[in-house]
Amino acid sequence: MTKPSMPTPADAAATTATQRAATAAVDAAITSRRSIRRFLPTPVPPAAIEAILQVAARAPSGTNTQPWQVHVLSGAAKRRLSERILVAYDDPVLAARHSEEYAYYPREWTSPYIDRRRKVGWDLYGLLGIAKGDKAAMHAQHGRNYLFFDAPVGLIFTIDRILEQGSWLDYGMFLQNIMVAARARGLDTCPQAAFTSFHRIIEEVLDLPAGQQVVCGMSLGWADPAAVENTLVTERAPVAEFTQWHQR
Ligand SMILES: Cc1cc2nc3c(=O)[nH]c(=O)nc-3n(C[C@H](O)[C@H](O)[C@H](O)COP(=O)(O)O)c2cc1C
Repeated sequence: MTKPSMPTPADAAATTATQRAATAAVDAAITSRRSIRRFLPTPVPPAAIEAILQVAARAPSGTNTQPWQVHVLSGAAKRRLSERILVAYDDPVLAARHSEEYAYYPREWTSPYIDRRRKVGWDLYGLLGIAKGDKAAMHAQHGRNYLFFDAPVGLIFTIDRILEQGSWLDYGMFLQNIMVAARARGLDTCPQAAFTSFHRIIEEVLDLPAGQQVVCGMSLGWADPAAVENTLVTERAPVAEFTQWHQR
């Protein structure tokens, strides 16, 4: 092997420019991610989905356990799941028979979480012109979850039931990687806990082994740039609000 030559000042400048471009690209992929709730019908090539999943699987996991299992739905398979869930969702008697298997949200809401939850809800409904108390319109909007917001690709994520809380932490990193890798390719996503309520239908339609538990769903595709719901930009607390610096 030849001995690497010492970097010259020109190399250092080029590296800095390359580094700056890499920083900008990664930051842009992260900060341009938003939950998109109306997609164009344009199909996503299977090779792009495969590439996203391959990149996302570089997520770290405790002792490299890689707890993720992904079901990629499109075409008739996606329609079949949407239809089955919507039949239950739109019938109050049937809907009452379904509930989530794990608590994604707190059982008791307190500030600041309840305030943030209300704000994002009313911001979205406000954009869509849904008035407070218009239960039918809210039901219909929530129901769009089960159409994967018209995205051409629906993802359903499952985990082995024997795995513990730590693996769910790993899972979140995998999900975020998918969303960021999608952005790097101009694609958009919406992560969806809404699917957990209908996990029994998902288990049946996807013929899941009993040992697998539904974690959540995700819509994947190209955002409809004309859709008002896609103009929602959510707030974040400033760093100083959630960070304590310990120095001495
Ligand atoms: C695990 C997870 C589940 C979510 N479930 C839903 C869902 O079922 N339906 C939905 O419209 N948004 C869902 N969201 C999106 C959140 O509402 C959204 O991330 C939050 O309001 C911040 O907005 P942003 O994603 O546009 O930055 C979910 C987000 C996460 C991380």
